[in-house]
Amino acid sequence: MNQPSLIEFSKIGASHLGYISVAQNSDLPFEIKRVYWTYFTPDSVIRGHHAHRNLQQLIFATSGQIEFTLEDTSGTKTCYNLDSPTVGLFIPCFYWRTIKFSHNAVLMCLASMEYDEQDYIRSYEEFKSLKPNEIQ
Ligand code: TYD
Repeated sequence: MNQPSLIEFSKIGASHLGYISVAQNSDLPFEIKRVYWTYFTPDSVIRGHHAHRNLQQLIFATSGQIEFTLEDTSGTKTCYNLDSPTVGLFIPCFYWRTIKFSHNAVLMCLASMEYDEQDYIRSYEEFKSLKPNEIQ
């Protein structure tokens, strides 16, 4: 999968009990190597401002609302509003992202690699100047 996509996960339970949703490697576009979560982000802050060379991610808003804007190297931007714990946003490598959180949002990320700062492209100019042969 080389395009971002929204993946709907099943919801086990009932309204009077609450729910469980499950992500397991056999159902995912990559194998999970790391899980991290982001929280207490003020709603005045825009996070992200980077792309990844190799990292693939599946992102959930486990609570609150999170707006992701993804841009590919040709300049096409798509906005995704995550507001349900049952929906994951799959982000392939080489997508520039900006992220806005509601004050109560918790972002959970399932990641295909361990943390590696060398995998980040943090310069927008560098991202925009990538040549097709540099993009896998
Ligand atoms: P970053 O991925 O840039 O966060 P966001 O996309 O939410 O703005 O990470 C923010 C900082 O945290 C940066 O200095 C790298 C560090 N960091 C780690 O040390 N380990 C990790 O697993 C992650 C995701 C980030």
